[in-house]
Amino acid sequence: MVLLTADIFYWCVLPALVLFIISWNTWPFRTSTLTGDPSTEWKELIPDDEDDENRKTMQCLAQFHMKKNNKELGREAGRTFHLRPTIVIPAKLTVLDGLPDYCQHGIFATPKEYDSVVRLSAGSATKKPDSEGDVRGFALKVKGVEGDSAMGGNGNGSKATEQNFLMIQSNKFALENAAQLASVSESSQKARGNPIALFKDLAAKEGLLTAIGMMKSLLSEVGKPFSGFATTTFNTCAPHKCGPYACRLGLKLSTDRAPNEVADEEYFLTKDFEKHLEESGELEYDLQLQFFTDESQTPIEDPTVAWNSAFVTVAKLTISKESLSVAHDDNFVKEVEMMSFNLWKGLEDHRPLGHVNRARKSAYPQSAERRGAV
Ligand code: HEM
Repeated sequence: MVLLTADIFYWCVLPALVLFIISWNTWPFRTSTLTGDPSTEWKELIPDDEDDENRKTMQCLAQFHMKKNNKELGREAGRTFHLRPTIVIPAKLTVLDGLPDYCQHGIFATPKEYDSVVRLSAGSATKKPDSEGDVRGFALKVKGVEGDSAMGGNGNGSKATEQNFLMIQSNKFALENAAQLASVSESSQKARGNPIALFKDLAAKEGLLTAIGMMKSLLSEVGKPFSGFATTTFNTCAPHKCGPYACRLGLKLSTDRAPNEVADEEYFLTKDFEKHLEESGELEYDLQLQFFTDESQTPIEDPTVAWNSAFVTVAKLTISKESLSVAHDDNFVKEVEMMSFNLWKGLEDHRPLGHVNRARKSAYPQSAERRGAV
């Protein structure tokens, strides 16, 4: 009997235990649990020539945008990217009570309800049917915010009145930096939808290996199946401050939902979202913080790495069925289309961090200005 128990231990329990430990440490999607406070040891590494490089990138983006908006090309004026909204709709953000101390900064400092606006979009610079792969954007504008603005930094007197967070349907960004985004945009404009021409142009500018890497990660992000805005998680992919800490932000449905069966018509993602809302009466998302733990697991400057730290829910974002009538009101749609969802419009306590976010500090207001928005 004793021998049998030992055999079972050596041949069944022990191997199972070893396999469990190995897979626990190597499982790629596992998020670590947060034990104790997150780290305040994060650092931004700003190269000396970053401002000059960003100026060149902004010129490239401006040329791309103006060419795109040129009526002769038959394209419509509008945002440089994320041109087409899937839906724009009012929402409420309710900051939860009893959050851990390390979350209680900026808008998460006290439990409160905020009027908000959500703009869901397709990431392309031009209008494409929903059946074509794309980056999907979840832009959130929280209104009625008070405090020092991230634009000027602490103590310079400028005040924030809103807090913007911009997310996409991925936990990592496909490109390493803003220059790569400008380069891809320029090349795809020249290539006019031909992937081979796009690759050739990129290879000529960036070198063969970099072009292969860029194409691979772009295709894998854009080619990912997207089940809809009411069934997917979203992430900022680049960090913000949370007081003395750094975090990425994520959104996930509070209750898992199955994708709808909707006809594969041109803009079926709008129909799908509306159907979810009509059927459930309200959609509720958890707004979550994912904290910096250390540079290797949660890098500040590299948006192409998915962070593996735990998510902490800090607020509920709710969209009610009644808001659909506002979403269908042309005046509201026009008003939101002329808004600028700019991640730098927000509190110093949530200042965007990392190269990609620093480059976005001039990209968003410049794009807004070119399209006459505020
Ligand atoms: C590589 C750096 C990036 C640059 C230069 C850039 C640039 C831009 C620009 C110029 C716009 C249009 C702004 C307007 O006209 O109002 C835009 C929109 C947007 N971007 Fe980025 N972006 C970058 C990275 C990202 C990242 C990392 C995310 C999120 C993970 C993101 C999410 C969005 C979203 C959701 C919108 C649509 C906002 C709206 O609905 O008005 N972008 N981006």
